[in-house]
Amino acid sequence: MQIRHFNQLRGELTVPGDKSISHRSIMLGSLAKGTTEVTGFLQGADCLSSISCFQKMGIEIENNPSTNTVRIHGNGLHGLTAPATILDVGNSGTTTRLMSGILAAQPFTSTVDGDASIRKRPMGRIMKPLSLMGASFHSLEKEQCAPFTVSGGHLHGIHYASPVASAQVKSAILLAGLYAEGTTSVTEPALSRNHTELMFESFGVDIKSEGTTATVTPAKELHAQHIDVPGDISSAAYFIVAGLITPNSEITVRNVGINPTRDGILTVCRNMGADITLTNVKQDVGEPVADITVRTSSLHGCTIEGDIIPKLIDEIPIIAIMAAFADGTTTIKDAQELKVKESNRIDVMVDNLSAMGVDIEATDDGMIIHGGKPLHAATIDSKLDHRIAMSFAIAGGLADGDTEILGAECVNISYPTFYEDLGKLG
Ligand code: S3P
Repeated sequence: MQIRHFNQLRGELTVPGDKSISHRSIMLGSLAKGTTEVTGFLQGADCLSSISCFQKMGIEIENNPSTNTVRIHGNGLHGLTAPATILDVGNSGTTTRLMSGILAAQPFTSTVDGDASIRKRPMGRIMKPLSLMGASFHSLEKEQCAPFTVSGGHLHGIHYASPVASAQVKSAILLAGLYAEGTTSVTEPALSRNHTELMFESFGVDIKSEGTTATVTPAKELHAQHIDVPGDISSAAYFIVAGLITPNSEITVRNVGINPTRDGILTVCRNMGADITLTNVKQDVGEPVADITVRTSSLHGCTIEGDIIPKLIDEIPIIAIMAAFADGTTTIKDAQELKVKESNRIDVMVDNLSAMGVDIEATDDGMIIHGGKPLHAATIDSKLDHRIAMSFAIAGGLADGDTEILGAECVNISYPTFYEDLGKLG
């Protein structure tokens, strides 16, 4: 796809529903007794993978893409049936890892597989704790990767000190903990997104969070809910940054989820000197939302490291673009997790920004960006990573000349209408 230069971006928009919350709504809705109605559901390919996997396990799920409403007719905690075929997770790491926590407790064996990217992503991080709880995993090709089979076991609770701050790992263990004998807890090196804990609470599960430890008591029954999914801050991030770095711009993104375990991008924008304001701040059943307004700003570099990293992990590609437009140096540390996302996001950002003439270097756990120089148009290889494609659609709009993005259609994973929405502001 060819990205045309934009001179200014003005207007307001709402972005599609939060990906993390949409996945969890399908999973908890499937395990609850009765009908869970979800509004604002993200119609991205990843969340559709979650729907199809649970349909394969006997759950009736009605999806209405024209209204973004999903009705899940849950059969209760013990109501899943053995899938007749492979559970295909597509590109979705969240489906793979969270669903594995549920499969670990089922009285049947299932096989999980996905696309070429999923087949490279580390699954040992969930296989290890779920095996400690009593499940058994068998990788069919490459050790500790998809495709794999899960044979559910009679689980017992564990207290797990996770080596990574990962909500997918934490959630897999907590979901398995719903079925275990005794309590299950997970302690993380830094707090990751807590959507599973918040949604457990609304479905009536006994869950406690203290510092970086979450503890679940096995559930007897989950009660069906209404879930209104807020806009995804990870999708809003492209427009937040676009509004800040494009001349003469002002953008308002309405109804964005600003859960404090996800709002690191807002802190970084402020630290870099952004003109950013939040209005209509509301708490919607555990998940706070706000309208976010940004105006063109003169930005300066900063250091991003430590406990904030899990709160902005998916936004680092677009933060790197922002850093390229900021004066001075931006250093991103403690972000080695970027190497095991949909692509190796350290290498892919460094290669593509270098191609646009940015002074950037990769480090072991992040990158160093010397910003403030104009960007040149280039051919960008997205590596079929949705966040890379969207980040470079913004960078490309500000480069001299036309930027070509290879594999641009992969935005379909989390934001199918991204290019149309961007076009409406330009
Ligand atoms: C997610 C957690 C994060 C994030 C992913 C969604 C979730 O992954 O990168 O896009 O919904 O739990 P990790 O937990 O592996 O860091």
